[in-house]
Amino acid sequence: MAGAGEKNVQVADGTRSPAASSADARSVRGEDCPSAGASRPVGGGTGIPALEARDLTLSWDGEHVVVQGVDVTVEPGEVCCLVGRSGCGKTTILHALAGLTMPMSGRVLLHGEDVTGRPGRVSYMLQKDLLLPSHRIIDNVCLPLVLAGMKKAEAREKAAPLFERFGLAGCELKWPSELSGGMRQRAAFLRTYLMGADVTLLDEPFSALDALTRVDVRRWFVDVVAELGLSALVITHDVDEAVSMASRIYVLAGAPAAGEPSHVAGIVPVNRVASESFELTDEYLAAKRRVMALLG
Ligand SMILES: Nc1ncnc2c1ncn2[C@@H]1O[C@H](COP(=O)(O)OP(=O)(O)OP(=O)(O)O)[C@@H](O)[C@H]1O
Ligand SMILES: [Mg+2]
Repeated sequence: MAGAGEKNVQVADGTRSPAASSADARSVRGEDCPSAGASRPVGGGTGIPALEARDLTLSWDGEHVVVQGVDVTVEPGEVCCLVGRSGCGKTTILHALAGLTMPMSGRVLLHGEDVTGRPGRVSYMLQKDLLLPSHRIIDNVCLPLVLAGMKKAEAREKAAPLFERFGLAGCELKWPSELSGGMRQRAAFLRTYLMGADVTLLDEPFSALDALTRVDVRRWFVDVVAELGLSALVITHDVDEAVSMASRIYVLAGAPAAGEPSHVAGIVPVNRVASESFELTDEYLAAKRRVMALLG
């Protein structure tokens, strides 16, 4: 399985993947794998957002409101970021969007379908990579397939061709402790991808990485999301991370622990200019300034 050959075939959005076979692409989208509940059709052109939070009000205890009246829309193929200070309710929102908790009020729509409180419909990656130290990398990334009932050998066969595109060729049989932080995050994202949904939620996915690795992994992430035809909502408190990755940034403000529920203070569009050093452009700095002003 290590060093699986490059296949260079079509994936769902019509772009070319250097690593995935069409069978793998179908499989990870759930067309022929047991985790099919998570799978949705991919692509834009329908006019229907990939993911919508409509007027979400959330509480952990049914009494203290953490976030109030939050609207978020992620269009097909888009990377959006949700930015806010520590404790403002970002992870709380992710849990509701993933269907892991029920909102006090409001709805979550996936490709127009109401999935409020229904888990297993989007892929998500939690704040820590949570790779199991007792499992080799291939078996870590295969977990969603195995948990969905696929045999281990078959799951390994499905996952192996994706290692190249995720920058992990040759790491299949390594243990998590043998990987760098960036490699671990890519492995965690590959596992998230194998959950089989085309909408993915990531909670502070790169916060544990050093600054240089973070820049590389962010660029890689934006490319791979486009190539695989995914839509993504990335949660972060790092304004630079948001501006460098997103086409739109939702800025969350408030202090729920002090009794002030958070709300979306503004949405900042990012005019992404094609440049190796986008981080040095006026467009980048203008967006960063707007986000900082909204954060207060
Ligand atoms: N499981 C939980 N049970 C009860 N309260 C919780 C739970 N998780 C979070 N909270 C509370 O909800 C509020 C928002 O927490 P949340 O974890 O969503 O913030 P966050 O924006 O993700 O912060 P960070 O950037 O530090 O991860 C906080 O006041 C927190 O104490
Ligand atoms: Mg959090």
